[in-house]
Amino acid sequence: MAVLLTGGTGYIGAHTAVALLEAGREAVLADDLSNSKAEVLERIEKITGKRPAFYQIDISDGAALSKVFEAHKIDTVIHFAGFKAVGESVKKPLDYYKNNLNATIEVLRAMLKYGAKNLVFSSSATVYGPYGESPLKEDAPTGCINPYGWTKWMSEQIIRDAAKAHPELSCVLLRYFNPVGAHPSGLIGEDPNGIPNNLMPYISQVAVGKLDHLTVYGDDYNTPDGTGVRDYIHVSDLAQGHLAAVSYCERHAGVEAVNLGTGRGISVLELLRAFERVNGVKVPFEIGPRRAGDVDECFADTQKAASLFNWRATRTAEDMCRDAWNWQSKNPRGYEITSKA
Ligand code: NAD
Ligand code: UD1
Repeated sequence: MAVLLTGGTGYIGAHTAVALLEAGREAVLADDLSNSKAEVLERIEKITGKRPAFYQIDISDGAALSKVFEAHKIDTVIHFAGFKAVGESVKKPLDYYKNNLNATIEVLRAMLKYGAKNLVFSSSATVYGPYGESPLKEDAPTGCINPYGWTKWMSEQIIRDAAKAHPELSCVLLRYFNPVGAHPSGLIGEDPNGIPNNLMPYISQVAVGKLDHLTVYGDDYNTPDGTGVRDYIHVSDLAQGHLAAVSYCERHAGVEAVNLGTGRGISVLELLRAFERVNGVKVPFEIGPRRAGDVDECFADTQKAASLFNWRATRTAEDMCRDAWNWQSKNPRGYEITSKA
């Protein structure tokens, strides 16, 4: 039986595809390439020696999705596909609700139509909004402060309601903390469009000389060094977490929300210093004002993932910094341009 990865050529999808193929599973990838490149497929093949089936489709196109289910015996879907830029979601909320919610609905419709029972959904720690206190447990209060976050929160609710009506479904809502880093080969990694919003790709692009300096968004937070604390998790650990979630789904029914993080908070300055130390590079920075919507600290309680999945993140902040830099320095301009160079 095959595992369908919607958004499978994206950052986390590609790393999960590699992990699945390396574990001997059949992976089928579907993506509209709105935020990724077909070159990813070559890279996945280079790493694993296997080329997964690929469909360039909009996941919210039910007819196109049906064709994928007709061509493969799919019992599990890992649903990554969605728009993910927080700032853009504030400017184009309707695009975000339409794309992210319709994709989730059509995935569920296709699963019910073709008898696929297992769903692993890419949710986010953003569903905890600024409300809960870290370490965040899965039953902490939820609520969001931007349309992107609400699409995750609402998708979780849609999945819960579908599972209530169809008790044969088995669903895991994975709440990622801050995925960073890249495959250690440097063949796949994060390739953001334009100027990155997130910290690690920004640091990498300063280090490689594409950007001039990092602005640290505030040093007056209630944290040991005053800068924001987050739970950065290596994308390869995250990929392994998906394998564990799939195998949990295969043995259970119902819905579980599960955090994927390390449980360890790291400040902006700690991450920056680790990056400089591990990679022997300088990352010029200046302290700027706080960014709207940021909280002092956000890190996971990881107990539930450990007890349900027998999974824990193993890679260190140093591994994350080394692999992020390896990817960035080997692919200074991302996938497409490097491959033509
Ligand atoms: P990504 O943008 O690299 O991957 C998402 C993929 O989905 C892209 O390849 C894009 O082309 C595709 N896509 C979007 N809409 C589609 C549609 N309608 N039909 C087909 N394909 C579509 O993002 P990522 O970082 O790999 O994130 C994967 C998932 O995890 C997303 O749902 C994201 O919201 C969620 N998430 C990511 C982070 C993070 O920091 N990267 C954190 C929490 C949650
Ligand atoms: C952000 C999103 C969150 C999303 C997550 C993963 C916001 C408010 N939150 O989380 O919804 O799920 O990305 O995509 O956008 N920082 C700097 N300078 C920079 C960039 C970041 O100092 O140039 C700091 C931030 O203030 C924060 C930390 O670095 O303290 C991490 O930021 P970032 O990587 O953007 O992740 P989050 O804000 O945790």
